Parts: sequence; C-alpha cells; structure tokens
Amino acid sequence: MRIFSGIQPTGQKHLGNHIGAIVRYVAGQDRGEALYCIVDLHATTVAYEPPALRAGLYDLAALMLAAGLDPQRCIFFRQSDVPEHSELQWLLMSVTAYGELQRMTQFKDKAGAAQDLVAAGLFNYPVLMAADILLYQTDEVPVGDDQRQHIELARNIAERFNARFGETFVVPRGTYPQVGARIMDLQSPTRKMSTTGGSPQGTVYVTDTPEAIIKKFKSAVTDSGREVLRGPEKPGINNLLEILAAVRGCEVQELEREFEGAGYGQFKLAVGEAVVDYLRPVRERYQELRADERMLEQTLAQGAAKARALAAPTIAAARARMGVGPVAPQA
Ligand code: AMP
Ligand code: TRP
Repeated sequence: MRIFSGIQPTGQKHLGNHIGAIVRYVAGQDRGEALYCIVDLHATTVAYEPPALRAGLYDLAALMLAAGLDPQRCIFFRQSDVPEHSELQWLLMSVTAYGELQRMTQFKDKAGAAQDLVAAGLFNYPVLMAADILLYQTDEVPVGDDQRQHIELARNIAERFNARFGETFVVPRGTYPQVGARIMDLQSPTRKMSTTGGSPQGTVYVTDTPEAIIKKFKSAVTDSGREVLRGPEKPGINNLLEILAAVRGCEVQELEREFEGAGYGQFKLAVGEAVVDYLRPVRERYQELRADERMLEQTLAQGAAKARALAAPTIAAARARMGVGPVAPQA
C-alpha cells in the first residue's frame, strides 16, 4: 500500500495542520510505504519572496521531523529536487480539460484574492498536484477536506490517461480525518483555523510558547450557556471538545462526562494545558532540528534520491505510451 501527501512550505503551521495532516502522516508510516513531499513549486504560484520560501521550507522540514516523521520509515523530500514531477505535469496537461481547471474552487478563491497578477501556474496548480500523486502509483492520499476537488481531478486525469494511452497509473483515493477534520478558529469558531483567513489570537501555532497557548485558550470564544456539552448552537465548545478529544485520543462523550458541572473557564484551561503538554516535545525537538540546516538538506537529498528511483519506471512508461522520446529499448 502506497501513501503520498504534499504540504506547502508557506505560513507557520498551526494546530489544524498538525492534527488534520501531520499527525496522520506520522501514522501512515506504520500502514504502508509512505512518501511525504514539501511542495515548494506549488508555493511559487502566488506572490512570495524567495528567501522567505527557503526559510519556510526549513521551518516545515524541521517541524515535520519533530512531529515524528522518520526518514528511515518514510520517503521525505522536496518536490523541486525531483524534476520528474514537473515533467509529468506537462504530460498530464494534455489529458486535463481547460474547463475542469476553471471549475476548481481553490483557483477561483486564490485568483480572486491575487494582489498583482494571476499566474498561469496557479491555474495549472492542480495538474502538478495530480502529477505528484500519480508519479508514485499512490493508493491513498491523506489530506484535509479542502482538497477533495483536487483529488477528484487527479482521479479523472488518471482514468482518462489510462483509457487513452493504456493502463499506466493507479487511480488514487483521498482519505479524510474523522476527528479534527476541521479545527476551528478559537476567536470565531465558525471559521476554520487558518494562517491567512483567521485571527491571530484564535490561531494556535505548533511553535507557540506555553504561555501564548494558555492565553489563547483562556480567551477562546464560547457561548452564554454553562454546560460542557456538544450542541448545534455551541460552535466554540464543540471545537474545544474536538481539540481535546484529538489531543487525548479519546471520545467526546467521555469528555462530556468528565467535565459535567465544571464551568467554561475550568474547561478552557484544561484544554489549553492538554495542548501545551501535547505540543511541548514537538516544539523542543523543532528548535534543535531547525538550527541544523545542513542536516535538513542532507535528509531531503537522501529522500529525493529514493523518490527519483521510484518515479523512474512511471515516467518512462508515460513517455513511451504517449509516443514522446525515442522508442523504449525492448527488454
Ligand atoms: P495548508 O497549510 O493550508 O496547505 O494545509 C496543510 C494541510 O492541513 C492540508 O491537508 C489541510 O487540509 C490541513 N488543514 C489546514 N487547515 C486545517 C484545519 N483548520 N483543520 C484541519 N486540517 C487543516
Ligand atoms: N494542494 C495541497 C494543499 O494545499 C498540497 C499538495 C500538493 C498535495 N501536492 C499534493 C497534497 C499531493 C496531497 C497530494 O494542501
């Protein structure tokens, strides 16, 4: 079973990214042959500063290793180190409909928010993502809910290529988290926690200090009720219950029982303290790893060499079936 996922080296990663994505990557190492890719080429499709991109890449690489990715048990690499991603993107472009890309909601959102120019790369972003996945004959793609449309497109591209040129790609399937699929902003709990769209006080970063984390949880927005129970009119409490359940690895019902009769203040503090304990080891390891950029480069380079070896037969097959390049020598 092969697992692949990609994550952008942009923005500081928050509790939503950690629970909704990174922790699931770590678990994937025990379930199959896992590849995790920092997608720096995707990050060039919106306005950005080159030094910040590189710094963000090291930040994220250190954070993912600190969270428990083990380069001995998974292939951890940087997208731009494996040029086969870009080549396969080009090949797949001819089985991707222009109209399909126009319908991508993430493109419409990001293009609408663009300050200066809407790059053609932003339009073609989902094709590069399909190439990332299909290049490794991926079975499962752990992602958040917001990526469903992109995964659907990757499946369509694989099916269309296979039908037109012959069986070449595994048709991948997206996997979505049960608990913690959407961690919400602590200040406006009807919006998802996000580096770009959220409030600074409502966004908990993995590398926040314990004091900052406690402060953010203490000031989390709740409602005028007083019982720690899930309910339709209680987005703030629902979110805090989800967070605590994800962090402790337990059911929300158990928490409702445990906090029966406790006030909101006591509950919020308990969630804050649990999150501090949960993130403390990650933050400590992060600081050590982040200080060693040479080690990070070496780790990514070793991952890229393994990824290229896995990618080679697929890119060769795609080229041969499409009739580009010389005729493949007969074995
Ligand atoms: P991003 O940093 O936005 O590229 O997201 C990286 C991963 O984290 C993706 O798989 C997202 O679906 C996931 N993710 C982002 N925000 C949240 C959130 N608030 N709750 C759960 N998962 C999230
Ligand atoms: N588009 C994804 C996101 O914004 C990142 C990504 C790029 C990805 N390539 C991928 C995710 C391949 C899964 C598989 O979160």
